[in-house]
This record gives sequence, structure tokens and C-alpha cells, in this order.
Amino acid sequence: MTTLQKIKDFDKVFNFGSYDGSVSLEEYRMTGGYEALRKVLQDPQAATEEICAAGLRGRGGAAFPAGTKLKMMQTNVETERYLVCNADEGEPGTFKDRFIMNHIPFQLLEGLTIAAILAGSSNAYIYIRHEYPAAQAMIRQSIAEAQAAGLLGENILGSGVSVNLKIFSGAGSYLCGEETAMLSSIEGKKGRPRVKPPFPIESGLWGKPTLINNVETLANIPVIIAKGADWYKGLGTKDSPGTKLISLSGDVRNRGLYEVPFGTTFREIIENYGGGMKEVYTLKAVNIGGASGVVVPPEELDCPMEYGVCAARGITIGSGAVYVMDERRSILDNVQNRVNFFLHESCGKCTPCREGLRQAIRIIERVLAGQATLKDLSNLERYTKCMQEASFCGLGQAAGNSLLSSLKYFRKEYEESCVDSAQNIRERGDMC
Ligand SMILES: Cc1cc2nc3c(=O)[nH]c(=O)nc-3n(C[C@H](O)[C@H](O)[C@H](O)COP(=O)(O)O)c2cc1C
Ligand code: SF4
Repeated sequence: MTTLQKIKDFDKVFNFGSYDGSVSLEEYRMTGGYEALRKVLQDPQAATEEICAAGLRGRGGAAFPAGTKLKMMQTNVETERYLVCNADEGEPGTFKDRFIMNHIPFQLLEGLTIAAILAGSSNAYIYIRHEYPAAQAMIRQSIAEAQAAGLLGENILGSGVSVNLKIFSGAGSYLCGEETAMLSSIEGKKGRPRVKPPFPIESGLWGKPTLINNVETLANIPVIIAKGADWYKGLGTKDSPGTKLISLSGDVRNRGLYEVPFGTTFREIIENYGGGMKEVYTLKAVNIGGASGVVVPPEELDCPMEYGVCAARGITIGSGAVYVMDERRSILDNVQNRVNFFLHESCGKCTPCREGLRQAIRIIERVLAGQATLKDLSNLERYTKCMQEASFCGLGQAAGNSLLSSLKYFRKEYEESCVDSAQNIRERGDMC
């Protein structure tokens, strides 16, 4: 079964109807596509209020309310403004934005055009990672088609309003998904994060107000405007309205992309959507939120996927990546992999992240080699907390999430490898 077949059973935000492959402009319009844009051109104020009332939160990871950001943009007096769509999708295990770009490009383009109009930005960029050549080609072709149909570019639908959209290709850096590093990259500088505040909404591209939103966030907008905030809120929970695209991978039967209403528990995601565990092995751990997310044991899986509840329990929904591990997987190998990833992607600008990651990987390697001590573990925890609190940008602040959560829930696995653990001392018989 393909991902598209699985996901199209749902009639939620991402309604794929009966189409296979990519939804053409004609097909998209036949199912009500671009009606939301017409509504926005007639009454932009009402459209902004609808987005605010829907309670849409950013799907790029930080979950900031999209309507609030839009309103902040509207109150800025600068006339030169920009919109940037974040299609960098660098979080390992995440493939939702690629799916939207490859299969429903016009839902994204309509949402992007609406957001640009409401933000007063006649110039927009879509920053697509270079590892997605098919998505770049699809978006390039879709932009041309939308322009030819008068839905993008100059004088949209004869309204006098223009939105000029350009594609910017990333160059393979995870850090460039961070919004301020992305701005530097578009400006032709090194993709390094900038100090915040000022936030991009105040001073973004070339110092001008810039609205930055993720692909999935923008693709929600046409549906909210077409169907209304009340309909949208009916899909999720009071705290987290709507649905979330979940990239499910690992040791489950049916790996793939699922549209899941907020409020669904992580156990339901694995069992009902993923079809449960692959083969006969039992569930050991789940990584939620990608490399910058947490590693939790099965007991935590009855937590509903809801921003408030998850935050209170230390679970990061992040980009919506859920990676399932069965009893054969080593937590230490998994964490080593993630820390190595961050070490490779860290720009090295600030000490807590640059040195914290180096020290962390040294200790993990010692643990894996059976040479670490219990003191090493407490140092590992200390360095990681320091990195979390003192790093300059979100990369360093989140890089230790999987490490700290694994130390919390799977400490025994670390301790079993330490030379001075009680068990190892007993086994060697060198207790005094
Ligand atoms: C290291 C790092 C990488 C990020 N990568 C992405 C990414 O690939 N895609 C994305 O949409 N947001 C990413 N973000 C979050 C963005 O900085 C920003 O919050 C987001 O694009 C805002 O859009 P939203 O409000 O619609 O979520 C990343 C953040 C950090 C700290
Ligand atoms: S936290 Fe890491 S990636 Fe971010 S600025 Fe510091 S060194 Fe660079």
C-alpha cells in the first residue's frame, strides 16, 4: 500500500479525494481549491480573524500561534515585507513537507499566497532543501501554472494585489532550517543563526519584516478559510485544534505518513495507524519529535498528542516524526547516532553546543566500549543540561533532548556498561 493510499482514507485537512499521484491545478480547483483565495481578496480582515479563531499553531516545531504572528506582521508600519516558506525539512525521520510539495502543491501555494496577501508581502520565497529535487521541480512547475492562471504573480485574479514567489534551494545544512540562519542563507551569507530579538517578524530578510511559516502550517490555511474555524476546531482538541501529519517509521507494520487528529494518543498512532509492531518483537522505546525530540518507554505512550499535555510531560511533538524501536534496538546506539548528527550539523559558533556535543560523544563512546564510570554519566548529564540552557540557538538547546530523556528512562542500559556499576563490580568479584 502506498503512502498516498493510506492517507487518502481521511477527509480532514489534507483531503486527497480520489486522486493518485499529484493533484493537478484543474483537479484542485474542481474540489474547491482557490475558493479560499477569492474569499481572502474580498475580505482579508475576516480571513485573518478566521485563522486566529482556528487556533492554528506552527507545524515547523515551535508551535507558535500562526494567527498571532500574522497579526504582528500586520501592525508593522514598514511597507517592504517578505514571506518565507520553510521547506527545509531537515529533521531526521520527517517527510511530511515533501509529501505536500510532491502531491498537493497547489494547496501549499494557495496557503502561501493567502498568507503573503494577509501579511502585505508582495515578495515571497520558498526555501526547499536541495535533497528534494522532485519537490523543487514540482513546485517550479506549479508556480508557472498558478501564474498562468492568474492565481499567483502580478494582479492576482484581477484584484490589483501581487505576490511574486521565488524558489531558493538549500545546500544541505540542517541548521539552515532555523529561521534566522535561513534568512542569512537567502541573503547570500553563511547560514548562521542571528540573535533574537529582533525576531524576523520585526527585522527579517534584509532587515525588513518577514513572516516565516512551515509548509504544513501554510497548507492548513486554505482549508481553515474555506471550511471555517469552527469546523477546524472540531477536528482536534481545545488546546490543539486541527490535525497533525505524522511521519511514522521504525519497527511498525505500516510505516508511512498519517494525518492524525490532535488528542490521539501515541499508542493509538502506533497501533491503529501503524498496525502495531512488526514481527514478533515487543515495543521498547519510541522517539517522538525527530532527532531533537525525546526517547520514551511504552508507559508514556498513553499521552495524548496535544501541545499542552505533551509539554507538561516533557514530550516534544516537534515536526511530528515518530520512530518506533523494538526490543532488539540499543538505546545507546540510537542516542549516539543522534548526537553525532548534531555534532556534524553544529556551526561551532558557541561553546556550550560545540564543546558540549564533543564531550557528550566522547562519553557515549566510552560507555559503548564498556570503559565509562558512573561519574562519566553524571558529567554527561551536567554537560547536556548546560548545553540546553546556554546554547545560542535552537539546535544546541534541543540537541540534548534525546540524551537526557534516555538517561531518565533507560539509565539502566547506560549503567550496565559502566565499569564501576554495582552489578559489574559484583560480577568481577573485586568488591572490598
Ligand atoms: C536547528 C533548527 C532546525 C529547524 N528546521 C526546520 C525545518 O526544517 N523546517 C521548519 O519548518 N522549521 C524548522 N525549524 C523551526 C524554524 O526555526 C521556525 O520556527 C519555523 O519555520 C516557523 O514556522 P511555523 O511557525 O509555521 O512552525 C528549525 C529550528 C531549528 C532550531
Ligand atoms: S547552538 Fe550550536 S548551531 Fe546554534 S549557534 Fe551555537 S554552535 Fe551554532
